[in-house]
Amino acid sequence: MAAQKTIVGRIDREALAFTVGKDPVLDLELAEADCLGTAAHVTMLSRARLPRRLFSTADVRRVIEVLREIIRQSREGRFRITSGDQDVHLAVERRLTERLGPLGKKVHTARSRNDQVAVDLRLYGKARLIEVMDGCTALFDALAAAARRHRLTPMVGRTHLQPAMPSTVGLWAAGHAESLLDDLELLGSAYAVNDRCPLGAAAGYGVALKIDRALTARLLGFARPHYSVTYAGNARGKCEAAVLQALSQVMLTLSRLAEDLVLFSMPEFNYFRLPADLCTGSSIMPQKNNPDILELVRARAAKVLGHAAAVGGIVKALPSGYNRDLQETKECFIEGLASACASLRMMARVVKGLRVNGEALRRGFAPAVFAADRALEMVAEGVPFRDAYDRVKAHLDALQGVRPDVAVAARFGRGGAASVDSAGLEEAGRAWRRFVRRERARFRRVACRLVGPIR
Ligand code: ARG
Repeated sequence: MAAQKTIVGRIDREALAFTVGKDPVLDLELAEADCLGTAAHVTMLSRARLPRRLFSTADVRRVIEVLREIIRQSREGRFRITSGDQDVHLAVERRLTERLGPLGKKVHTARSRNDQVAVDLRLYGKARLIEVMDGCTALFDALAAAARRHRLTPMVGRTHLQPAMPSTVGLWAAGHAESLLDDLELLGSAYAVNDRCPLGAAAGYGVALKIDRALTARLLGFARPHYSVTYAGNARGKCEAAVLQALSQVMLTLSRLAEDLVLFSMPEFNYFRLPADLCTGSSIMPQKNNPDILELVRARAAKVLGHAAAVGGIVKALPSGYNRDLQETKECFIEGLASACASLRMMARVVKGLRVNGEALRRGFAPAVFAADRALEMVAEGVPFRDAYDRVKAHLDALQGVRPDVAVAARFGRGGAASVDSAGLEEAGRAWRRFVRRERARFRRVACRLVGPIR
């Protein structure tokens, strides 16, 4: 039977391919994080009070020099992981050993691939979450700007998709913007859950060497190491699920916004015109301008929800300690983050480029939309509400001639009870933008301190 040599023993070729799965491709995403983790680990080993100094300051410098090279190659798409490597961890170790000989063979001291992949995913997740949150604030800004600009632009409010009450484009936009604030709250919680360092937990039971896990956590910019090494291992998958659940919420927001835009940009509505360069044509129908981006956001929302469910399913009732099942959560995590990031970017561009057709919006006001307003007017004149309701219902034709702008001003004009609290809305958005800016700067500082500026 054909067997292949790997760093960790000879393995049947088919078994190797099966167990490695998509790692040689997926792990390319983790190369930079793996290098940062390794840089922090050897730095910690050089400073920890061990019976014997494993790495001198010069050793650390040499290791980091090669790690910098790997990061550069990975950014240029030139770093390779072979099936013999199995994953990024052994690929980086192989490269270090090829370049540094015995020194490279020491970097795996007091760690396991289990804590290594865990820390890689935390670092990767942190960087990506910052991008997702940045994307949320950018889309939020676009929606909040539309909410202000179209504060009094009439738009029929609908329930059951049927015309219901006078509303505005501003209210519609503010509604989606506020939804993103909730999503940011959940992303912030997932960010905090992710912000713990598992490196040094080794296979999940620590090592019989006085390493300094708190120092590793500090060097990598994590809020703290895990309190227990067993949970450092067991949190794998659970943390990914938390992130994917938060991303699911983002995608719920995006998919509803996308659906609204598909609907209201249909020629039959014509409320909005989508930016022409973001629409696609047809190979047979010359007139077409299709909202493919919005449709794909709708579908990708389903996939992100699916990824969250898949990861939950994988870790549910998994026995304590590392199990290879966990490897299968990686693809869901990476794809979910990438998909949310890209969807947010595209949606922000769509919203920014949206043209609002005030005429079509006003034309959409069938007189019956003013029925509830009329009943309340009668209440003000002293008629009990139910009587007013019945009378308006019997004479819906009498509602002709009410002007949408007047109806809208009564509700959403300054001091109107339904007007958007733009100040509150926008201040909440600014707070999240400050969070993103601070965490991004922190993350960059950490990387720079560990391995120096790269290019
Ligand atoms: N590729 C593996 C994963 O993602 C790395 C950890 C392998 N550990 C092990 N004990 N086989 O889970």
